[in-house]
Amino acid sequence: VCGIVGYLGHRSALDVVLQGLGRLEYRGYDSAGIALLDGDGSLAVQRSAGALSNLEQRVAEDGREHFVGTGGMGHTRWATHGAPTDRNAHPHRDSTGKVAVVHNGIIENFAELRAELENDGIELSSDTDSEVVAHLVGRAYAAGPAAGDLTAALGIVAARLSGAFTLVVTHADQHDKIVAARRSSPLVVGVGEGETFVASDVAAFIEHTRNAVELGQDQLVTITRDGYLVTDFAGTEVETRPFSVDWDLSAAEKGGHDYFMLKEIEEQPEALSNTLRGHFADGGVVLDEQRISEQDLRDINKVFVVACGTAYHSGLLAKYAIEHWCRIPVEVELASEFRYRDPVLGRDTLVVAISQSGETADTLEAVRHARTQHARVLAISNTNGSQIPRESDAVLYTHAGPEIGVAATKTFLAQIAANYLVGLALAQARGTKYTDELEHEFAELAAMPDAVRSVLETVPQVRELATRMCDAKAVLFLGRHVGYPVALEGALKLKELAYMHAEGFAAGELKHGPIALIEDGLPVVVQMPSLKGHSQLHAKLLSNIREIQARGARTIVIAEEGDEAVRPFADELIEIPAVPTLLQPLVSTVPLQVLAAEIARHRGYDVDKPRNLAKSVTVE
Ligand code: F6R
Repeated sequence: VCGIVGYLGHRSALDVVLQGLGRLEYRGYDSAGIALLDGDGSLAVQRSAGALSNLEQRVAEDGREHFVGTGGMGHTRWATHGAPTDRNAHPHRDSTGKVAVVHNGIIENFAELRAELENDGIELSSDTDSEVVAHLVGRAYAAGPAAGDLTAALGIVAARLSGAFTLVVTHADQHDKIVAARRSSPLVVGVGEGETFVASDVAAFIEHTRNAVELGQDQLVTITRDGYLVTDFAGTEVETRPFSVDWDLSAAEKGGHDYFMLKEIEEQPEALSNTLRGHFADGGVVLDEQRISEQDLRDINKVFVVACGTAYHSGLLAKYAIEHWCRIPVEVELASEFRYRDPVLGRDTLVVAISQSGETADTLEAVRHARTQHARVLAISNTNGSQIPRESDAVLYTHAGPEIGVAATKTFLAQIAANYLVGLALAQARGTKYTDELEHEFAELAAMPDAVRSVLETVPQVRELATRMCDAKAVLFLGRHVGYPVALEGALKLKELAYMHAEGFAAGELKHGPIALIEDGLPVVVQMPSLKGHSQLHAKLLSNIREIQARGARTIVIAEEGDEAVRPFADELIEIPAVPTLLQPLVSTVPLQVLAAEIARHRGYDVDKPRNLAKSVTVE
């Protein structure tokens, strides 16, 4: 996820673009850059790694007089391909320096496009997937059917790309035109008086105009100072649906939501598809970095998963999948405990370190300890180029985009998907699954963004439920099998956001002690196992619910659609789509995230910034 803004109008493009980037910085903040059309046939470009303020400082050092003109574009990056460095910052240019491109998304076939360009003697100057687009557009503009026509040139190139993209392109010789394209990444046009904008979201231009047009899938837009034209990639004009933005500025940054966490919860389908995209090709899993040989991977006979907090809960789920698919023992450990107990590690051990920030000190120290013991380390992280991936032997990045809310939501779902990809990679290396089985498992994973989309329909019901739960003294969460880590995660979310006492239990443990906690009116959230996938466990949980209901608990049940058996025992029923057992946490966690956030909101707390907590915990 990155933030993009393009502008053609009558104001200083430098001011409009930098201000727009400031509004979009929540979308990415590891590097930023601008390209301005100064009208004399050249582009004024500046880029910098780090926050937007670094870019602003460079612009100030160069002098504002180098950034004149009333047209241009900018980008704030969240790295996917290539570390967050100056040379990987956008905009990228072609060899003539006249074409500049900014990109949000992932271009899946960039390796073959890059090879094609390199075969023709073109030298690329970054490690990104995005730079290829600048060169391809440059070539299409220079010669062939689209010669001299920037819109047609981008159309030809966009049609060749696979993956997801918002692309904005400028050409130094075309100072009255900016062209943009989109597939599976957002792009909106803002229409003002004598000025037109393109951006990843309306927050970038809401101060200047509230008239907007959203681009559809596989569409191109050409903007001028006086308007815009939307076509398909082949150049045929398409109908658009203009709308008026009625949010205020702060809501606009949050996509119309009251707080970032809710926005991030709603972004989970996209976070999942972006994480899966490009990580499975030709019947096998593709890691982002891989310095472990095939033979070493085959020889792995023990897996440790190390992580903290929510990431640890995703790790608990990795155990179910990896043991089931690969027949290797898996232990899941809190990273903060791992090295202090002298775990048995060796060359045949794989340590999977999960950390969205990639900076968590406990996890980093666990990784370092594992490496001193000659274990192989595979990192799963949401932050390209962060410390844990840098110190690991293999890396799989979750592409959930930056998470502003301190509590992990979309990165949790993305971690679960990534863990399962690692499980499939190991199954592939060890030969415990045939290619068609791997493809089948992947296809089931690939169907999950839609399942999560449908579970989001429960948001209004859960928000209403939260209004009735915010005075509870405590809340218990119960689950079994993959529902157990979900129960732990539901309880953690409630503790950290709503500052309420909450406990997650394996439902089978209830009778060994916790049942003593049940009293009249105590809310107990129960995650029901899949009826088809786990009928035995389903029956056991049913009797657990009966027991606690008989003792006065108020049961809030999360169950598959069509689970009629549980209905009589549910004081509140939240229905989720029926999905394969291992994938159920991807849907069942979502209502728990909403519940915690909304209870916190009703209790008057800042959902995005819970007290005493930080997004990245860099002390042990
Ligand atoms: C809870 C939460 C934390 C993190 C934990 C690990 O909502 O966000 O429990 O999961 O601090 O952080 P990372 O994944 O950055 O290592």
